[in-house]
Amino acid sequence: MTSVPNITLNNGIEIPQLGFGVWQVRPNETKAATLTAFEVGYRHIDTAQMYGNEQGVGEAVRESGLDRGEVFITSKLNNGFHQPDDALKAFDTSLETLGFDYLDLFLIHWPLPGIDVDFVDTWKALEDIYASGRAKAIGVSNFQPSHLRRVVQEGTVVPAVNQIEVHPFLTQDEARAANAEYGVATEAWSPLAQGLVVESPVIAAIAKTHDKSPAQVALRWQIQRGDIVFPKSVTAERIRENFEIFDFELSEADMGVITALDKGQRTGPNPDEFNWIP
Ligand SMILES: NC(=O)c1ccc[n+]([C@@H]2O[C@H](COP(=O)([O-])OP(=O)(O)OC[C@H]3O[C@@H](n4cnc5c(N)ncnc54)[C@H](OP(=O)(O)O)[C@@H]3O)[C@@H](O)[C@H]2O)c1
Repeated sequence: MTSVPNITLNNGIEIPQLGFGVWQVRPNETKAATLTAFEVGYRHIDTAQMYGNEQGVGEAVRESGLDRGEVFITSKLNNGFHQPDDALKAFDTSLETLGFDYLDLFLIHWPLPGIDVDFVDTWKALEDIYASGRAKAIGVSNFQPSHLRRVVQEGTVVPAVNQIEVHPFLTQDEARAANAEYGVATEAWSPLAQGLVVESPVIAAIAKTHDKSPAQVALRWQIQRGDIVFPKSVTAERIRENFEIFDFELSEADMGVITALDKGQRTGPNPDEFNWIP
């Protein structure tokens, strides 16, 4: 069976470099999709309060027959809960909804720089959760280098990860370098650019030379760059396909050609401007 490498986070916790993302997986389909992922061999699931499907993830873990300690589960604080007291309560609700007594990783989903709660205060609530032992690691998501710097300088715990949009059309060199400078692992969200990468003739041509699919090549590019990825699919064959990326290697030339596809193309919002509260 394919074995997924682990990345050691800055607090010593290990995370499988490849996981399964469940954004836009409908709540009533989440258990089945997650169970398929577990059958294929994924042991890392990326969910969020905002996705409304934590319950299905928790049910899948229990039905899978896997021990809780065999799976790595991430969730994220929803945008309406940045006040520290709200963040603590929302974390408890996540645990309850998932049916767990701890999370492996809990993130601030968006920095929301324009709202009246400073994300550093929200971060301090996550530090309290971490101190309680109910999150094995804490981190941030969609933090620009300027946001990350403030959390590192004003907090007491350095985020274990920063989960940001990264794919061949948005290589995020500056943000990844800032993460690395602070010892923060980069998690690459929308690694397939929400499916757009499969339409790239350049990636398709490289895929052909390796007898692989464009999606597999895009994911392999991210793995070789050292980022943590969790492609989403509700299609069983694709869930399997996206896992079969450890039996080939891209050359340095392939890596360079893919990196050169960068055109600063976001599929999601710009974190500097996004202040949406559901
Ligand atoms: N922190 C954040 O703000 C944030 C934001 C966005 C995403 N994320 C995380 O990142 C995860 C992945 O990102 P994403 O869901 O936006 O997009 P993605 O993984 O880049 O792409 C998913 C899309 O690609 C299709 N797809 C999957 N595998 C494929 C394959 N092998 N060949 C062709 N098409 C394929 C899927 O279709 P089907 O499902 O129909 O098969 C779906 O439409 C999310 O689930 C979530 O966990 C985090």
